[in-house]
Amino acid sequence: MKKDLISIKDLAAAEILDIFSLTDKLKKNKAKFSKVLAGKTLALVFQKPSNRTRVSFAVGMFQLGGNSLYLAPDEINLGVRESIADVAKTLSRYVDGIVLRTFEHKNCLELAKEATVPVINGLSDFSHPCQALADLYTVQEKLKKLKGVTLAYVGDGNNVCNSLLFTCAKLGVNMNVGCPKGYAPDALVLKDAKTLAEASGAGINLFNDAFSAVKDADVIYTDVWASMGQEDEAQKRKEAFKDFQVNKNLVKAAKANVLIMHCLPAHRGEEITDDILAGKNAVVFDEAENRMHVQKAILIKLLGR
Ligand code: CP
Ligand code: NVA
Repeated sequence: MKKDLISIKDLAAAEILDIFSLTDKLKKNKAKFSKVLAGKTLALVFQKPSNRTRVSFAVGMFQLGGNSLYLAPDEINLGVRESIADVAKTLSRYVDGIVLRTFEHKNCLELAKEATVPVINGLSDFSHPCQALADLYTVQEKLKKLKGVTLAYVGDGNNVCNSLLFTCAKLGVNMNVGCPKGYAPDALVLKDAKTLAEASGAGINLFNDAFSAVKDADVIYTDVWASMGQEDEAQKRKEAFKDFQVNKNLVKAAKANVLIMHCLPAHRGEEITDDILAGKNAVVFDEAENRMHVQKAILIKLLGR
């Protein structure tokens, strides 16, 4: 049966660790995997802009011997030019996998249900699973462990935060979320993450101030205050999040060697300052690079025979 990657909630901890161990192999020996997806094509159906996700999937697919096809918003015009089901059924006749970047998460679920080839969520308003996998892979690579690590997420309880919650909870990584009132992560995700954390031994904690969240943290993570599609709320959000900026003062409140992470793109001077992004603790470009390595592992798992 075909397998999709729509939410980290659907992955067992062992499956995540399996993706990480294949990623290690891919990083160590790129040439060995240069033909594993020969003759296969990945469609990239994007309804929002992208740098990392689009490029890392396209290049990753090429490095595995396969091909990719970028389908811009105006071309497929999902659900407008034709129904999601018809797009899914048609693309399934041509390609071996589909990455969808979309607004409503239910579009991912519907595309996956109707397609006969694997569907990968390349970001929806609800989640960004490929990002969270690359993030926790990066944490493991840098700190040589996952269990017992504390990741403090400071900012908006958005798609990236939701996926990090599932991933941390499954892998035994403590996660502190520091966000203003009214901008907490999805209540159901928090509830599920807490339940999953009981099994893995992780702690999931919500704070309404940034300093409490980063105390004793090994990793500080942030993302934009206004995500794609929320541009008209940007001004209101700047006001709401003003005490949640990752800057020198906040970083001082965490451990001395705290890793600084951001999914990028960053709005420098808003959620994070230039000096912190340029500082020795920031690993944001290693994190961005790992998007490609981890996704190559995902592609092999889902599209390889
Ligand atoms: N982090 C991330 O998904 O970046 P893009 O929006 O550029 O793909
Ligand atoms: N939360 C951001 C992530 C971008 C990679 C957004 O959805 O725009």
